Amino acid sequence: MAAEKWVYMVTAQTPTNIAVIKYWGKRDEVRILPVNDSISVTLDPDHLCTVTTVAVSPSFDRDRMWLNGKEISLSGSRYQNCLREIRGRAGDVEDKEKGVKIEKKDWEKLHLHIASHNNFPTAAGLASSAAGFACLGIVLCLSVSSWVFSLAKLMNVDEDASHLSAIARQGSGSACRSLFGGFVKWEMGSKEDGSDSVAVQLADEKHWNDLVIIIAVVSSRQKETSSTSGMRESVETSLLLQHRAKEVVPKRTLQMEEAIKNRDFASFTQLSCADSNQFHAVCLDTSPPIFYMNDTSHRIISLVEKWNRSEGTPQVAYTFDAGPNAVLIARNRKVAVQLLQGLLYYFPPKSETDMKSYVVGDNSILKEAGLDGANSVENLQPPPEIKDNIGSQDQKGEVSYFICTKPGRGPVVLPDQTQALLDPETGLPK
Ligand code: DP6
Repeated sequence: MAAEKWVYMVTAQTPTNIAVIKYWGKRDEVRILPVNDSISVTLDPDHLCTVTTVAVSPSFDRDRMWLNGKEISLSGSRYQNCLREIRGRAGDVEDKEKGVKIEKKDWEKLHLHIASHNNFPTAAGLASSAAGFACLGIVLCLSVSSWVFSLAKLMNVDEDASHLSAIARQGSGSACRSLFGGFVKWEMGSKEDGSDSVAVQLADEKHWNDLVIIIAVVSSRQKETSSTSGMRESVETSLLLQHRAKEVVPKRTLQMEEAIKNRDFASFTQLSCADSNQFHAVCLDTSPPIFYMNDTSHRIISLVEKWNRSEGTPQVAYTFDAGPNAVLIARNRKVAVQLLQGLLYYFPPKSETDMKSYVVGDNSILKEAGLDGANSVENLQPPPEIKDNIGSQDQKGEVSYFICTKPGRGPVVLPDQTQALLDPETGLPK
């Protein structure tokens, strides 16, 4: 390794994921090994993603990390475990043009700079994209998978995405499922060292591409219990969690795999909704009980349940993570348009809000729903399917905004250097 001043870097884009069979509970807190398998859908990174630039240079004097422009400490054991694991797998790297030659053994001495930014469509009432992600409660999950993927590329780690998922898992459990696009299973594994607790792809994003996902970001003043401490308390106190992990999820995971394979939306909906509801039941069964959903979340569940029942066959699946936000999966675009009209009827924006900042992500859906003009929300009629009105148009402000997206691809390297978050000369944030 020559002692010049080069900075060598890689930039990558990584998606986030939403579980339809939930991970809740660890059997090993250090290695982050779950008590059951889980299954997720990767969300389109065009609408929600993390961009990470990782850099190495002989001039760096310590490992450093910036998240959304702010330097954060890498001293936590989760970060340290991930860094150690990835350094241990690094290979030789050579870039003749830049005069960079790093041998496998050099990685132990070289320091890294990591900068991640959560990209998020500008939304109503949110100062920055970072605030948007904090609102969704997915900051850590996203950045861990993003920097494990980027470091693997930078360090020429010769491992497939499943092996990388086992490293990302040690940063944050659910993050391991973001190493793939489409539909992903995190297998709990049985080995004590966790080497078989990895993510695998069940099907790619093209397999079931009529699905449309609408996320209702529900306003909440309440400070939520973090997933990490919430699931620890559930493992310690909930008998329902034991039953769920042993008896319910193993069967449900197999059924969900079948439903995804056969694009069987009725089963997919039944399983997703039941699993979300059981996860929240486990939270209630925890001592002291944990409440993640609020009245707005419950109102959205009623709306969807009533609609599905009146149609005779399910049109929309719902799932809620460790917070009040609803993730709604519509069977196709036509249903998504009707769903959005219904949601906007019940949860209209505050009067001064521009529709394009109330419905973000793929907001071309607004036009299809006839909602791109002024005053169009006021003209919406109550959804005919829902005969007994579950509250009328008086819920202004209960939903902060909606994100329209779809299943999406896994992580990719961004070849365009202008998208790098670190300066190519100094290796510091631009
Ligand atoms: C409710 O992955 O955030 O979103 O492993 O402690 O970092 P740690 O927890 P985390 O838990 C996410 C739980 C969940 C369900 C899921 O994504 O499967």
